[in-house]
Amino acid sequence: MLPIVDKPLIQYAVEEAIAAGATRLVFVTGTSKRAIEDHFDVDAGLEQALSAAGKEDLLATIREIVPAGVSCIYIRQGEPLGLGHAVLCARPAVGDEPFFVHLADDLIYGEPGCLAQMADEHSRHGGSVVAVQVVPPDRTSSYGIVAIDGKAGNRITRIVEKPQPKDAPSNQAVVGRYLLVPEIFDKLESTGRGAGGEIQLTDAIADMLADFPVHALSFTGERYDCGSKLGYLKATIAYALAHPEVADDFKQYLATVDLT
Ligand code: G1P
Repeated sequence: MLPIVDKPLIQYAVEEAIAAGATRLVFVTGTSKRAIEDHFDVDAGLEQALSAAGKEDLLATIREIVPAGVSCIYIRQGEPLGLGHAVLCARPAVGDEPFFVHLADDLIYGEPGCLAQMADEHSRHGGSVVAVQVVPPDRTSSYGIVAIDGKAGNRITRIVEKPQPKDAPSNQAVVGRYLLVPEIFDKLESTGRGAGGEIQLTDAIADMLADFPVHALSFTGERYDCGSKLGYLKATIAYALAHPEVADDFKQYLATVDLT
């Protein structure tokens, strides 16, 4: 729920997913995350008050939080057993079709959005798609790291969760966007605990590589790791500089900031 300028990160996630064609949004949340459901809920009292006050712009903004035709499903992950487990929790709501996994902490600025680029890639190759970006070699232990066959349309040949630099198959890191075929769920059912004692999505993907193609997509766009303080600050500045309402004033303000 951390805001970047004027919207929580989860709202950016939802907008990117909807722009990529998603109409059913499944939120897998942990304890004390009720604010997410409240954010996407209809607030009839607020709508009435805005309408009575003639604040049509604000009214339109809150009505667009979840556009017509899009449904939201909330699932609680009872125990924090890892990303793979969180994805498995969503199985009953996803069913037997390809689906996106979006980690909202990874904010990606780009047009078209990263998920739309992945849907496009899926329509070219079929199968699963994972978004990747090059990271400094000494940062591999923070990410899922892939080896790619460039001659096979960037098909992933290996994926390892958070390897030390000496064990990493490359410095191409998985960022928080996946388009997965539903066969991943059976793999997740039998995935044991991996790195950090958690059930890792990376391990289930590794288990799938031989039978089901997974391609890596070097997306176009700027990624901000909003799970880190510095990433969050960078995102705030980038989004403020692109925001129609505040960009000009903010630029002027930045020009006055003493950086010494
Ligand atoms: C998760 C995944 C990791 C991926 C990362 C992207 O890790 O397990 O493979 O590279 O997201 O942000 P986390 O950051 O949740 O530890």
